[in-house]
Amino acid sequence: MTSESLKKVVESSSFEPAARLVASDLNPHALNAKYAVRGRIPTKAEELRTRLANESHSLPFNKIISANIGNPQQLDQKPLTFYRQVLAMLQYPELMENPRLKDSIPSDLLARSKELLDNIGSVGAYSHSQGVEYVRNSVAKFISKRDGYEASPDDIFLTAGASTAVSYLLGLMSLGPKTGFLIPIPQYPLYTASLALNNATALPYYLNETDDWSIDAKELVKIIEDSKAKGVEPRCLVVINPGNPTGAILKPEAIAELLAVAAKYGLVVIADEVYQENIFRGEFVSVRKVLCQLQENDTQGKYSNVQLASLHSTSKGISGECGQRGGYMELIGFEDSVRAQLMKLASISLCPPVTGQALVELMINPPKKGDASYELYEKESSSIHKALAERSKALFEAFSEMEGVSCQQPEGAMYLFPNISLSEKVYAKAEEQGMEPDEFYCSELLDNTGICSVPGSGFGQVEGSWHVRTTFLAPGTEWIESWKQFHAKFMDTYR
Ligand SMILES: Cc1ncc(COP(=O)(O)O)c(C=O)c1O
Repeated sequence: MTSESLKKVVESSSFEPAARLVASDLNPHALNAKYAVRGRIPTKAEELRTRLANESHSLPFNKIISANIGNPQQLDQKPLTFYRQVLAMLQYPELMENPRLKDSIPSDLLARSKELLDNIGSVGAYSHSQGVEYVRNSVAKFISKRDGYEASPDDIFLTAGASTAVSYLLGLMSLGPKTGFLIPIPQYPLYTASLALNNATALPYYLNETDDWSIDAKELVKIIEDSKAKGVEPRCLVVINPGNPTGAILKPEAIAELLAVAAKYGLVVIADEVYQENIFRGEFVSVRKVLCQLQENDTQGKYSNVQLASLHSTSKGISGECGQRGGYMELIGFEDSVRAQLMKLASISLCPPVTGQALVELMINPPKKGDASYELYEKESSSIHKALAERSKALFEAFSEMEGVSCQQPEGAMYLFPNISLSEKVYAKAEEQGMEPDEFYCSELLDNTGICSVPGSGFGQVEGSWHVRTTFLAPGTEWIESWKQFHAKFMDTYR
């Protein structure tokens, strides 16, 4: 159209402009959803980051320490060389033929890249919605070896991180407020947010902080019975192991008790096991393994209907490839008609990112002893493990020395969740500022040190107790020192 004719169209239009949408026009369930990990404190941290970039001496610190989210590579964790080398070959297969590179590419890297390329094809093409078969076969082998019980590739759905699996599962099982989902408190807020989106009911079960964040199966039964009495049908039991934000690892005996409850009440179990590689103390045993053991010893078929969805991700562990969106979900015990619906949801999204699928393959099948890439892989992965273990210890020790702070020693995952006793004066000041007391603490911590943490209220906590969740991913120990100094001053000010 010429500008002449466009002008005519505009001049001849005789209407008043309609208003734009405002938030209250939107889906109220979406408005209800909260996600503290990227909530008020992290938003403020971003503003301060921009301020620092523009006027570097305007604040009492010179950088923001993002301790609010388990995003390792945002905090200088280097990606594993082998992963990125293979991904580079998949993105640009000509590299494998490049005469200047050909002789310097380690032989196993070349072989792995070729094999993946043969089986995946172009990473720019949609794959099967359930994920590339070759990778699903590898996942099934990995699980079989991990648990000692055979897994089937047909049960594996590759996903865009564990979050997508959670969204499929909660979306499918939610039939409005009369469907209840048992979620641990404290929990990773993906669960409460997804339940709010789906207008379903969260049935919180409290983890026992003074007993290593353990779960009381009797308490679960009570919640289920109470909920039924109120007309809310419990559908699903979410287990996060190792825990976020608690860092605790469940013992097999505790898992067995949970499974007994699930079997009795017909609850679908979602086992969120994204931190299974992040273990510092104790041992990770999958919910699946315990279920297989129970089923093996069950002559009466009590456990044969248990439905379990286990989730894993390339975002955590030593991979830390959060931005590439890789993960898988294994479904056990579901009826074919239910699987078909999950498959349909996966199809609507077309496919998980294909590079993310390739990363799943690399995560579960890293270079082996004797491979040319092994030495470097081993060096890098053990240094990540070591650094995380050291930092978790340093932070734990720092919290142990702080006045009014108690903290469970982390066993796994990437977080500490210290309990902080806050005074009446803090309560009053927080109220004045329209915040919860722990949010006020986090806000002051950010303003004074640049450390961005998340208040415990974003994860749920026993009423009247206050917590802060922090990752221990940030490099160095100076920030831990400045947290200590801040805390001493804060306690003095509000004594
Ligand atoms: C317990 C837990 N589950 C799931 C996720 C989601 O991870 P992703 O979607 O990146 O796999 C996270 C992320 O922090 C988490 O902590």
